[in-house]
Amino acid sequence: MIVTLDGPAGAGKSSTARELARRLGWCYMDTGAMYRAVALVATRRGIPLDDESQLAAVATTIEIHFEHGKVFVDREEVTAEIRTEANTAATRPVANAPLVRGAMKQMQRQMAAGRDVVTEGRDQGSEVFPQAELKVFLTASPEERARRRLAEELAKGRQVTLEEILSSQQDRDHGDTHREVGAMRQADGAELLDTDGMDREAVLAVLLAWVDSRRPAPPATAASRPPQS
Ligand code: DC
Repeated sequence: MIVTLDGPAGAGKSSTARELARRLGWCYMDTGAMYRAVALVATRRGIPLDDESQLAAVATTIEIHFEHGKVFVDREEVTAEIRTEANTAATRPVANAPLVRGAMKQMQRQMAAGRDVVTEGRDQGSEVFPQAELKVFLTASPEERARRRLAEELAKGRQVTLEEILSSQQDRDHGDTHREVGAMRQADGAELLDTDGMDREAVLAVLLAWVDSRRPAPPATAASRPPQS
């Protein structure tokens, strides 16, 4: 079974998707990390971030995998390095390149094939897994998202203001919703979950109930089949 969680930056998708997958005992796919990994390799190789065909060549040849919450590219652990500010900025043009998105879509489908998966990103329900049994668009108001991010940044000892976070968040939202291919949107048939005022447990309770209600029925056994006349 596939569960997709899409939504804007700061809506709490990653921590929610990771915990949901842990509780279900399913695989967790962080597709933002995959775009970040392509950007990291491209930067290390000196590939210009507007050279779409070279970016796509990176996307189709690297091997990405997740293990115990860590991200590996060609077997090297890059969990922290993909999240630096510089790599976050480099990821934007990479994620906007249609050829890279095509390659990522293929890789994501291969990774999910035959597995129970919680996948998280911007386009998972709309483009990559439109047939998923459960599609969720997880969001929260811009102010709430910015407040959550501010608390995280301050906890890491970074000096930022709510205004700075709101402004960069607005830029990211605009970029994510206006890209040519794979623009962020609520997929057809997706549930909308606005998490304003909800704590993590409340969000997980809603998601777990939705998962239960969508689980495919087990195949009928001979004993449970009505007698044939
Ligand atoms: O979720 P995140 O911040 O780690 O995402 C990193 C970047 O990748 C961000 O610019 C949005 C983009 N992204 C995307 O375009 N499509 C996805 N499915 C996931 C992330």
